[in-house]
Amino acid sequence: MKYVDNKNNQLFIKEKAIENPKENELQIEVYSSGVNRADLLQKKGHYPPPAGESEIIGLEVSGKISKLGSLVNNFKIGDSVCAILGGGGYAEFVNVDFKQVMPVPGNINIHDAASLPETILTVYENIFNISEFQKGESILIHGGSSGIGTTAISILKNFTDKIYVTAGSKEKCDACLILGATKAINYNEEDFEEILIKEDIKIDVILDMVGGNYFKKNLKILNFKGRLTYIAAIGGIKGEVNILHIMNKQLRVSGSTLRSRSPELKGEIVQQVLKEIWPLIEEEKIGINIFKKFPMKEVNTAHELMESSKHIGKILLTIKGEK
Ligand SMILES: NC(=O)c1ccc[n+]([C@@H]2O[C@H](COP(=O)([O-])OP(=O)(O)OC[C@H]3O[C@@H](n4cnc5c(N)ncnc54)[C@H](OP(=O)(O)O)[C@@H]3O)[C@@H](O)[C@H]2O)c1
Repeated sequence: MKYVDNKNNQLFIKEKAIENPKENELQIEVYSSGVNRADLLQKKGHYPPPAGESEIIGLEVSGKISKLGSLVNNFKIGDSVCAILGGGGYAEFVNVDFKQVMPVPGNINIHDAASLPETILTVYENIFNISEFQKGESILIHGGSSGIGTTAISILKNFTDKIYVTAGSKEKCDACLILGATKAINYNEEDFEEILIKEDIKIDVILDMVGGNYFKKNLKILNFKGRLTYIAAIGGIKGEVNILHIMNKQLRVSGSTLRSRSPELKGEIVQQVLKEIWPLIEEEKIGINIFKKFPMKEVNTAHELMESSKHIGKILLTIKGEK
């Protein structure tokens, strides 16, 4: 099979033998693979795969089941599926534990379904499970135009009309508003803390991927019993904290990573998402936000686009049927 190899910060296509799935795994013939920010880190050697996972980059795919392990009885060969992976997505075939696999929603193109697993599972886990977001609460999403941010807006507009986001340009802010954000703050022109305080907007839940000096500001604008959850720290891993804000407002600060979790733990979120989010996709109450698709052989260009942060939404690699 063809796969994307990684040497000295450059990606190129190589060939290797297809491995058989283990008894708890199924094999997917990959149609498309999602590009994620974590892939850029892995390429640079900063984010190695968890023990036992494929060394090949790629955290999510869509495609058709081509083989079943002996213990897998809830899928059949030929089913259209998408899956969250610990690695191995930039390849023509990948083996994955059946608990991490979801059917492609009926109304979604099989290629486009590669945009769903990583962002939807991350948003669901951090906003609904960890932060216990309640219908009608206010939420602030930093990085509103990212793959994660656009997915969060698309989901949350079904649960609240108080969605605030930050993004780095007017174009990105406008895109977030079109998707359903209530207010979008261009952080290169305005200070989100100043704006929200001036307009007396209190935030119940914050999803942050920026970190750094946003920490102190986040604590200041959170409502009583507010929750702040970190999924990344693109802007810096160290921040200043006013402990009194945490005490006086009874705030909760948390963070998590999805990739390192066991198939059982990922499978729990998969089941929740299938029950709560998949129906909303099928009813077209949640749209998908694909910015651009690249053929597998243009994987370096796809990474350059993500590195540039000029994209709004998801970037995909087309693996099967590429020209
Ligand atoms: N913890 C987890 O389980 C988990 C799971 C999935 C993803 N993540 C993380 O979540 C983040 C988003 O993932 P993604 O795949 O959606 O990535 P993405 O589409 O590339 O989005 C990253 C966003 O960060 C913003 N950004 C970049 N540099 C920045 C800076 N210095 N300061 C402020 N904002 C900056 C960019 O928007 P602007 O132009 O507006 O700045 C960009 O839209 C990544 O860091 C990823 O690793 C974590």
